[in-house]
Amino acid sequence: MKIKAVDLFCGAGGLTRGLANVGIDVRMGIDIDSACKYPYEFNNDATFLKEDVTTLTSETISAYLTGNDVRLIAGCAPCQPFSSYTRGKIDYGKEKWGLLNAFSRIVKDVRPELVSMENVAQLKKHAVFQKFKKTLEDLGYHVWFDQVNCHHYGVPQTRRRLVLLASLLGPIEIIKPTHLEKNSWQTVRNTIEGLAHLYAGDKDPKDPLHVASVLSSTNLKRIKASKPGGTWRDWPKSLVARCHKKKSGKTYSGVYGRMRWDAPSPTMTTQCYGFGNGRFGHPKQDRAISLREAAMLQTFPKDYQFIPPGSKPNFKTVGRLIGNAVPVRLGEIIGLSIIKHLEAVSSSKDRKKKRAA
Ligand SMILES: C[S@@+](CC[C@H](N)C(=O)[O-])C[C@H]1O[C@@H](n2cnc3c(N)ncnc32)[C@H](O)[C@@H]1O
Repeated sequence: MKIKAVDLFCGAGGLTRGLANVGIDVRMGIDIDSACKYPYEFNNDATFLKEDVTTLTSETISAYLTGNDVRLIAGCAPCQPFSSYTRGKIDYGKEKWGLLNAFSRIVKDVRPELVSMENVAQLKKHAVFQKFKKTLEDLGYHVWFDQVNCHHYGVPQTRRRLVLLASLLGPIEIIKPTHLEKNSWQTVRNTIEGLAHLYAGDKDPKDPLHVASVLSSTNLKRIKASKPGGTWRDWPKSLVARCHKKKSGKTYSGVYGRMRWDAPSPTMTTQCYGFGNGRFGHPKQDRAISLREAAMLQTFPKDYQFIPPGSKPNFKTVGRLIGNAVPVRLGEIIGLSIIKHLEAVSSSKDRKKKRAA
């Protein structure tokens, strides 16, 4: 069975690329952010449509899901409300994660055989998620969902996400973890160690994305005093920020850290290129990780292009595309789970036919 897909909230194409890597034919990605168009289309054989999902019609989607193939609507609605994005005709509510309602409206209208949804793990606790799940169940979908530890599936990152899979064809679930044992985890070392050495503020002439942000002289002293896996508590007192000296700041140790070589990295965020924004210091070099390193920790291939040739990457824009992405490897796992499900459906149909014959 061939699978044709549309990716809602497609970003730079992390999910699309993962699905495509395992043979799913992703025809179109939709996103409101025009910065996604170049990476999405350059790296994937799919059309990018810049549109607000809240006003997207089922006809637009169905036009890309023609033929007798099994249809998949995949998507990763953003976890923050985007006030400027909610100017559509339909009011999807002002609550956090309201865009999920737009997602379920599309599923209701198109009725694809398969649905996949990925989101922040906390979403599970919210009413909007329960509503999303119930809508699918009421439409006749078999629904599976759980929190997934990405490093158990070969992502060199301790990212926890909520994954939902739904099918009109029968029960569906995610495949078993591929990297459950600690000694099989992918690490920072085996992902980025081979890249060119950089100083803070430097760029690799061979790859515009392998560029590290500038550090102030104080932050340079701070990173030199930082230990892999450590915190600002390792620094001499003179370097500790005033806010961390206060009682209220003392518990906040998740910033200004260096990664460990032989462990998965922390979760890549939209600001993962900044030393002060999390544990985003390079394990050995005195700088934050480069945009390319962040993309590789998100399991984008080393040659994934985020900006047109000859242009200079804007840290904020490219950081947003990278940090927001579904790790490509997680996209592959979602795709493999869907393929396994379809194989089970088709062999159960064969068995039934044989019995009837
Ligand atoms: C979490 S990211 C998705 C990442 C993507 N799935 C990937 O793997 O690269 C969410 C995306 O939703 C987009 N977005 C937010 N509001 C939207 C809307 N109303 N319509 C379409 N896209 C929207 C954002 O621009 C962002 O790229």
